[in-house]
Amino acid sequence: MASDAVVLLGCGWIARRHAAAARRLGIPVIFASRDPLRARAYAREFGGIDAVGDYAGALTDGRATAAVVCTPHDRHVDDTLAVLAAGKHVLVEKPIARTIEEADCIIAAARAADRILMVGENVHWMPAFRRVRAWVDEGALGSLREVHLVARGFRRHAGWRTAAAQMGGGTLIDGGIHYIHMLRWWGGEVRSVYALRPPRTFPELEGEDAIDVLATLPGGAVGFVSNSLAAPGVPRLQWSTLTGIRATCFADNRGRFLVLRGAGRPRIKLFRRDVRGHEAMLRAFRDAIATGKPPETDGPDGRRDLAIVLAAYRSAAEGRAVEVAC
Ligand SMILES: NC(=O)c1ccc[n+]([C@@H]2O[C@H](COP(=O)([O-])OP(=O)(O)OC[C@H]3O[C@@H](n4cnc5c(N)ncnc54)[C@H](OP(=O)(O)O)[C@@H]3O)[C@@H](O)[C@H]2O)c1
Repeated sequence: MASDAVVLLGCGWIARRHAAAARRLGIPVIFASRDPLRARAYAREFGGIDAVGDYAGALTDGRATAAVVCTPHDRHVDDTLAVLAAGKHVLVEKPIARTIEEADCIIAAARAADRILMVGENVHWMPAFRRVRAWVDEGALGSLREVHLVARGFRRHAGWRTAAAQMGGGTLIDGGIHYIHMLRWWGGEVRSVYALRPPRTFPELEGEDAIDVLATLPGGAVGFVSNSLAAPGVPRLQWSTLTGIRATCFADNRGRFLVLRGAGRPRIKLFRRDVRGHEAMLRAFRDAIATGKPPETDGPDGRRDLAIVLAAYRSAAEGRAVEVAC
């Protein structure tokens, strides 16, 4: 993909992040929108090499070897299959899909087409969060006991995000899945979950607007994810906490700082470049295409995140702990 173009399917919010990262990396972009005027406006703003008023048309462009799917969750399966059918590699935004069946269909299609399938889980590529993982691996925390991730705010959604069928759920399958990913990436594979939902605050949202998930992690460690769109007054500054037998790590949710306290002197790390990881993610996509080696956040990895979200939904609906399906 070094000189090859990438098609961005859907000119919405996250497409802006990919477009800005691609420009910084010198990757040419073709913008595809259902609305030709919007595609042109994005191409102008981000220096795109072309703008196309329909997705299928953009995917026939021979200059592009890959595409990024930036559309609502209910479109991920069809849009990803269309990219693969056009012979291109695909980076699909999180969540990989709404159901395990859809995820399996995407993974099988990528295998059959022999194309790279990557899930756009940007937290995995954030420099601060990679350092957290390195500290865990190096034993700086000692063996883990608790991983607490709290992501709460007050944000009213409109449009497709209010429809459970388009979303595949509510806040947990959307913003919350990032924290589910961090939970299993830092704490190890989740075995079972017990989830509770408080009464709804936003009646227009068909999916949940808040959810709390307890998780069992390897070695008896406990995970906790609290995710809410409906928490008025909660400040934007929030952090995740990993506690081991030697130390505790505090990780700013926006990836700007880390603090490690416990054994020895406190360690503080600040992060300023590519804090949201979008450049690193696109670079990893480009490398995967060049080498043919699956990226760390490949289809099966995205499927595992989704399986935990769906187990939490089942737990909340049935009022019992639920094993996470492999
Ligand atoms: N990694 C992250 O941090 C992050 C953050 C936000 C979102 N996301 C993910 O990115 C994807 C897109 O989310 P977004 O926030 O960018 O949403 P958005 O702002 O609503 O943009 C989605 C785009 O999809 C296209 N689209 C195609 N069919 C549509 C339909 N039926 N209804 C609405 N839009 C439709 C539209 O583009 P055109 O009209 O131009 O075709 C629209 O602008 C989702 O998978 C979401 O979970 C990831």
